[in-house]
Amino acid sequence: MADRSKTSTEPAAPGAEGAPAGAPLHVAIVMDGNGRWAHKRGLPRTLGHRAGVEALRRIVEAAPGLGIRWLTVFGFSTENWSRPAAEVAELMALPKRYFKADLKRLEREGVRVRALGRRDGLSQDLVALLEEAEHRTAGNDRFFLQIAFNYGGQADIADAARRLAQEVAAGRLEPSAIDERVFSQTLSTAGLPPPDLIIRPSGEQRLSNFLLWEAAYAELVFQDVLWPDYDSGCLSEAIRTFRARDRRFGGVVSDDVLVAG
Ligand code: FPP
Repeated sequence: MADRSKTSTEPAAPGAEGAPAGAPLHVAIVMDGNGRWAHKRGLPRTLGHRAGVEALRRIVEAAPGLGIRWLTVFGFSTENWSRPAAEVAELMALPKRYFKADLKRLEREGVRVRALGRRDGLSQDLVALLEEAEHRTAGNDRFFLQIAFNYGGQADIADAARRLAQEVAAGRLEPSAIDERVFSQTLSTAGLPPPDLIIRPSGEQRLSNFLLWEAAYAELVFQDVLWPDYDSGCLSEAIRTFRARDRRFGGVVSDDVLVAG
């Protein structure tokens, strides 16, 4: 993951010219609260997840205009396999539901899609769909959408450690060469800037195994809205909260210059 511990020089996404200065460039979201949203309406949880896809669509559309360039969303965790089989089947169908309706538009609008997480354990159809989305949008660079699917922060760290151990065992890597940069580049998030802001709606206040390594200096914002109700106003509110934070990255702020301390 690229180091962005100082103010980024990345250009704003096209269309974000009016975005407030200091907006987060990389926002990550735990899309939580689908089940409760459905329960409140006397609906099956599956309908909550489907409404969650609509919310994802709204946020992908709104994000570039708010100055966001990278958006990473948690679609299915390595722990979600423990849910009832019917719900797992519904969750597995969500990427199809989303890309069937949206892939053409994402492709046309310059969005690059990337799936994060383990492909093992996913059906061949689903892997093919994720790869198709990645392949068809590979040339895009206006906005970057990462879908974490069968993803767990601990699993990602363990997988990276295993890959590095294999490199060492094969004599291709010196143990002394392993540092934070090399480790970052071995995670499934390699090449992405670290998230500036991680949002969790639904009132829960935890990371639930999302981006554990990458979250080191992310600002965390928790909101009381359930994900299917999430809209651009909620995202703007989270950005306002983010902009009021004092980010020091372990240093101290002196005369507006960050000094490592
Ligand atoms: C958590 O809510 C949400 C999920 C496990 C799934 C989230 C996925 C989406 C919103 C759509 C994903 C779309 C793509 C393209 C992958 P919950 O079920 O735990 O809600 P609860 O805490 O209220 O029960």
